[in-house]
Amino acid sequence: MQQPPPITLQPFQESDAAFFAGMASDERVTRFVGDGRPWDQQTINDRVRAALQEDALDLAGASRWFLAKEADEPVGIVVSTRKDEGIEIGYWVSPEHWGRGIAGAMVDGALTTIPEVYKSRELFARVDPANTVSAKLLTRRGFQLEVNQCGLDRYTLVPVNS
Ligand SMILES: CC(C)(COP(=O)(O)OP(=O)(O)OC[C@H]1O[C@@H](n2cnc3c(N)ncnc32)[C@H](O)[C@@H]1OP(=O)(O)O)[C@@H](O)C(=O)NCCC(=O)NCCS
Repeated sequence: MQQPPPITLQPFQESDAAFFAGMASDERVTRFVGDGRPWDQQTINDRVRAALQEDALDLAGASRWFLAKEADEPVGIVVSTRKDEGIEIGYWVSPEHWGRGIAGAMVDGALTTIPEVYKSRELFARVDPANTVSAKLLTRRGFQLEVNQCGLDRYTLVPVNS
């Protein structure tokens, strides 16, 4: 792939909800997410509300979302949630931008931003084993397949000096 596109991550705001809703209601995007079906409006509203809640970052379940922009255009979302095992990350790219290195650039940014926000580098992602693009992206960036949990592969960021 050529030079990765320059991406900025900024805190997700209420005004970004329509962009998120466009992705969450698109079956190409949700294919490997949850039960694989597009989200209905109620689910979208509930998730957006939870994401904007700004619970204290040391509480299990606290989440922060980030809007990824290329120049001034929204191209994807990075989500993060504190779990008992560490900080779970997820990333969605708008389908018209797939295959250009956007997700890779988003995760590169997340690897800087998310440890700063949560004061933790214990990041992990859960990936449908059929989502080979996502698995490749993570392993190329220092994540290692750890275990299969409830049908999803868990990839954990390997500490730099281990
Ligand atoms: C998975 C997803 C995030 C990938 O986004 P993307 O911007 O197209 O990904 P990239 O272009 O950055 O490509 C990621 C890697 O896969 C490779 N790749 C991209 N398309 C590919 C394809 N069709 N076949 C094989 N490899 C491919 C790229 O070369 C790149 O490798 P690199 O990181 O080693 O350079 C995007 O398809 C998406 O949003 N899917 C729906 C939501 C989702 O499944 N999120 C992940 C949940 S864990």
